[in-house]
Amino acid sequence: MDSKIQSTNGILILENETPEDVAKAMIESGQQKEPFYVFDMDEAYRRIQYFKKTLPRIQIFYAMKANDNERMIKLAANLGMGFDCASPGEINKILNLNVSPLSIIFAVTSKNPYWMTYARKSGVRHTTFDSSCELKKIKQFWADARLLIRIKIDGESIYKLGEKFGCDFETEAIDLLEEAAAFDLKVVGVAFHVGSGCFSIESHMIGLQRARALFDHEAKAGREMSIVDIGGGFLSDRTDSINQVSKLINNTLEELFPDPNVKIIAEPGRYLCDSASSMYCSVNNVRKVSVSQDEHKREVLNSNTDYVMYNYSKANFIAINEFLSNVNWTEKIYVQTNVNEMVKVLYSIIRSSLDLYYEKE
Ligand SMILES: Cc1ncc(COP(=O)(O)O)c(C=O)c1O
Repeated sequence: MDSKIQSTNGILILENETPEDVAKAMIESGQQKEPFYVFDMDEAYRRIQYFKKTLPRIQIFYAMKANDNERMIKLAANLGMGFDCASPGEINKILNLNVSPLSIIFAVTSKNPYWMTYARKSGVRHTTFDSSCELKKIKQFWADARLLIRIKIDGESIYKLGEKFGCDFETEAIDLLEEAAAFDLKVVGVAFHVGSGCFSIESHMIGLQRARALFDHEAKAGREMSIVDIGGGFLSDRTDSINQVSKLINNTLEELFPDPNVKIIAEPGRYLCDSASSMYCSVNNVRKVSVSQDEHKREVLNSNTDYVMYNYSKANFIAINEFLSNVNWTEKIYVQTNVNEMVKVLYSIIRSSLDLYYEKE
């Protein structure tokens, strides 16, 4: 393997080479027996800068669940980003990098007493809630927390988070705000998440409108809120549909939240990491399966870990078929796909592009 590759804790770092070169080097070395992924730090950096440029009002709280590798979180910390943490383990990881706990939002609406106590003792101040039950726990275990009420916004998205998180804006939000006030808890803002991989660009706008209504309700009651958390959900495709959604968000912010003292934050995860990640696994078999109620034909790629349902685009598949018809199966074939595409593939919903590599035995 190339001498420029160094190994630390199972992570290989190759300077000044393309991610494809890294992958090829790993495959051709013959040492790589398991599926692996390559993470392109330059691409992650470009994504962060692009996000900042298109949404200048917004402070990023990186959803580290997207990639909690130390290099990625160090990059985020060095660029002055905050963090969306979803567990004590994630909080601990951030604090070990000497990042201030004030840069963390514990953005999970269901926390057990231990999690709350841990966050409070660690100096984390902000968290979210979406139920009366959570408020009662917060009252008991973390009464000085700064709270954001999470409302449900169900956009057209690949992963609909509204099925699990967020109170109903019409029927629950006001009651919860009143209950928090009765408990003497401090609600400082509104949070929402339009669902991951959101393709309905108006969803963020609806979220902002509802946040505005809740700000107004609180103001009337003599309680000030100052944070809007617009979550993640930015479509992590390679064609930057963020251009459209950012315009709408910027205009809506100007109209509904012109006061610069209102802090607008976002928790992008996939958007920052997706196109930086490529996953590789070896292919052992390919067979056709018939699929009902769907005119798309599908192939099953039997990789060395699992069956991968592949919903192919025609052009790709012709190329793959031709390629595979000449394969010598004593050699290993690797299939490369973008990590997020791979997840989509598992859900059998989206086309992708494939590159195949041989590993000579
Ligand atoms: C609270 C919260 N914030 C942010 C994210 C990141 O979302 P995305 O990867 O769509 O940017 C998630 C994803 O699950 C989430 O639950």
